[in-house]
Amino acid sequence: MFRELSLYEDDPIESMFVRLAADRSPDRMDLGIGVYRDDSGEVPVFRAVRDAELRVVRREGSKSYIGPLGNLDYCRVVERLVLGPEHAEPGNGHVISTQTGGAGSALRLGAELVRTLSRRSRVWVSDPVWPHQLEFFEQAGMQIMTYRYYDHYGSVPQFDEMLDDLNGLRRDDLLLLHGCCHNPTGQDLDQDQWQVVSELVAEKRAIPFVDVAYQGFGQGIEEDVAGVRLMAGQVPQMLLAVSSSKTFGIYRERAGMLTVVVSPGTGDAAGLRRRLRDLARQLYFMPPDHGAAIVLEILSSRDLEDLWRSELDAMRLEIVRKRAMLREVLEAEIDGYDASFIERQLGMFSCLPISADEQRLMEKLFHIYMLPNARVNVAAMKSSDARTVARAFRELRTRRTGDGFRRVG
Ligand SMILES: Cc1ncc(COP(=O)(O)O)c(C=O)c1O
Repeated sequence: MFRELSLYEDDPIESMFVRLAADRSPDRMDLGIGVYRDDSGEVPVFRAVRDAELRVVRREGSKSYIGPLGNLDYCRVVERLVLGPEHAEPGNGHVISTQTGGAGSALRLGAELVRTLSRRSRVWVSDPVWPHQLEFFEQAGMQIMTYRYYDHYGSVPQFDEMLDDLNGLRRDDLLLLHGCCHNPTGQDLDQDQWQVVSELVAEKRAIPFVDVAYQGFGQGIEEDVAGVRLMAGQVPQMLLAVSSSKTFGIYRERAGMLTVVVSPGTGDAAGLRRRLRDLARQLYFMPPDHGAAIVLEILSSRDLEDLWRSELDAMRLEIVRKRAMLREVLEAEIDGYDASFIERQLGMFSCLPISADEQRLMEKLFHIYMLPNARVNVAAMKSSDARTVARAFRELRTRRTGDGFRRVG
């Protein structure tokens, strides 16, 4: 039973990390992992998180079980953070949440919920997609459909193409969207586009499933969820997967939330809560509490919340600064090259317009590692590394065409 595993292939993300670990060069650069690093290369712990943690530990009287739905007080404060008070009135019965071990578990649980309720539902994902996101739906047995979202070599959004493809939405299909800071492209919908997509979804009677993993890393804590809030006010049913990993810098603590938003008369809130409880129990029994308790402490203490908001905003501005710097060095290295997309895009990630083969060359020649679609984590790049990245990119373009400007498919 355990003998035939050598045939098992690592997925593209895991195999990149295997190559990175095997690279002994002192120059190796990890631009793959999805974490925020400061300029010394550390993944910092928020001061607000440390302080909250101390308060939680001092007060905690028990480590008894909580239950499959996890920390429901955490859910109340995170619902407000994401949806705003107008959609997240406590106890209104139309926002049904369960705490999960991060947004990853929320996506998996959401997929399971939909598959058990409707076998014909398919899920529509953007092209390009964050590959791990696919797995949650594939493993739940759902059919995957893709919609065009972003022109990789042109570095521009494809909103018209997206709408064309989404014309194929059927009733009860899931439409997977990113609340902000799209992974992997950093290319977000603007408010008008959220409006158009909300109308389309309502007309098709499909169900948006919005993945909110980077609130606060794009344009601001409130600004980053403006599209989600707009949509929540317009569609009768919606799912949310929310991550506290990045927004609170508590990646390893595993705190997130799955939320079902139903407008009056379109959902059985008590039945949904029971179903979520049972599916969570069957899939992973119960989520961990520590991260959720930290977030709850922060969002229910004015001093900690203010501190956390200012720390997160400082991180966001640092990403904005790094994006401007990367654009500048790319344009300085390559005469006539327009790298404005790097500054236009939001959050940690952007995709360099190079092919998978060129990406492997980048690893071999320059020891620079990125995720599929040449996804660069700008937030993990040291300022001192920007020039190296720009030179590597220029070298690849020159090898490609001689003059470095012809497009390759
Ligand atoms: C878009 C997106 N969704 C979900 C996740 C998973 O987040 P979590 O750590 O909360 O499971 C990530 C993590 O990289 C992500 O980028």
